[in-house]
Amino acid sequence: MTENHTLTVRDNRTGEEYELPITDGTVRAGDFAKIGKTDDEPGLAVYDPGFTNTASTRSAVTYIDGDKGILEYRGYPIEQLAEKSTYLEVAYLLIHGELPTREQHDQWVHEITFHTFVHENLKSQLQGFRYDAHPMGMLLSSVGALSTFYPEARNISDPQIRHDQVVRLIAKMPTLGAWSFRHAQGKPYVYPDNDLTYTENFLSMLFKMSEQKYNPDPRLAKALEVLFILHADHEQNCSTNAVRSVGSSQVDPYSAVSAGIAALYGPLHGGANEAVLKMLKRIKVPENIPAFIEGVKKGDEKLMGFGHRVYKNFDPRATIIKKAVDDVFEVTGVNPLLEIAQELERIALEDEYFVSRKLYPNVDFYSGLIYEALQFPPEMFTVLFAIPRTSGWLAQWIELVDDKEQKIARPKQIYTGDRRLDFTSAEQRWS
Ligand code: CMC
Repeated sequence: MTENHTLTVRDNRTGEEYELPITDGTVRAGDFAKIGKTDDEPGLAVYDPGFTNTASTRSAVTYIDGDKGILEYRGYPIEQLAEKSTYLEVAYLLIHGELPTREQHDQWVHEITFHTFVHENLKSQLQGFRYDAHPMGMLLSSVGALSTFYPEARNISDPQIRHDQVVRLIAKMPTLGAWSFRHAQGKPYVYPDNDLTYTENFLSMLFKMSEQKYNPDPRLAKALEVLFILHADHEQNCSTNAVRSVGSSQVDPYSAVSAGIAALYGPLHGGANEAVLKMLKRIKVPENIPAFIEGVKKGDEKLMGFGHRVYKNFDPRATIIKKAVDDVFEVTGVNPLLEIAQELERIALEDEYFVSRKLYPNVDFYSGLIYEALQFPPEMFTVLFAIPRTSGWLAQWIELVDDKEQKIARPKQIYTGDRRLDFTSAEQRWS
């Protein structure tokens, strides 16, 4: 019980004391604004670049305990979901807050399956990209473009309209992701196959050629299912914060989700798995690892796929992925980069630099190896992250829209620039 807990703050500039309520282990930043406020001066603000210690919302979607390596969606441990559930069931759980009944599940799967097709004009838009366009750039622009096909989506206060867009987005992401992949290869885009499961259909749209029916290897479809479950949500990370921040302007969900895709594109976030693969290829042979590690310690570069803002002992997703690596390699043969990754991990985990900073492999360290074994080029890796993360973004977006406490996101700043300069015209300055 924390209701009666307070924090007493003494402002040594004035000697005044303030009592701030503590609720759920937090104090309201707005309460600090009362401290030292005069007619001429604003009150105190808190300064927190990167929001390292600022809660932006109350949320019931995903729970993380970074010290203990715990990740739960709606209270269910990630390990159990990865072992026993499917991606679409997890997506339902994230969006609706509880597990579906059989009828709800069947209806949900049916709805998603029958919304996988995209408007032909969107296909033309994708075809307009250069042959070497990055698939994440293609994905983020085509998801943004979806808002123009469903203008009713901007009516975000109508639950049925919201539901329709949620279904469309989850359904169409694999289609757009797969077509971005085919585009780079100059291969024809493959239409969805409604007889297949979500991940099987994705594999079909990626790899089908002239055969009548594509039959994906069930072990690969299962591995992809596990990877999708692991990536479905991760509370208030950079891209989710982008979705919430942009969504707080009450824009439609396609625009908000494309902001999330843009955030995920960056190498410090979802782009890390692509960077890991490039790093492993650059290291090439285990003999080059010590020199590489020395460079990291000198600050020349980062060991990509290591470290996390929240997980400080291990990333539970990385543990599950390591198991999936074995299953996939059983089908595809071992990726020679695995040896370098394992050796890199072994050396780093014994090195004082990484141990003292609590830097452990994160979800991206091994996922790239699986993706490469599945014949994806590194540019596709972040697309494979964005597709499943869509359900998490949307669960968080719905929570935002329903949250009466939320306002348009608008952080404060500490202004450090000049003031009250006299402007002289260009003619005067250049004469
Ligand atoms: N390699 C070498 N040093 C590192 C690394 C790394 N991967 N990560 C952190 N450090 C060092 C950092 O230089 C700092 O050292 P010092 O205290 O001497 O200045 C210390 O560890 C603390 O790091 P930080 O940058 O303050 O930590 P952060 O919480 O701001 O950053 C991170 C977290 C994930 C951005 C960072 O660890 C990183 O850049 N890792 C590599 C990129 C990566 O793998 N990203 C995927 C994250 S998991 C998937 C996802 O959620 O998108």
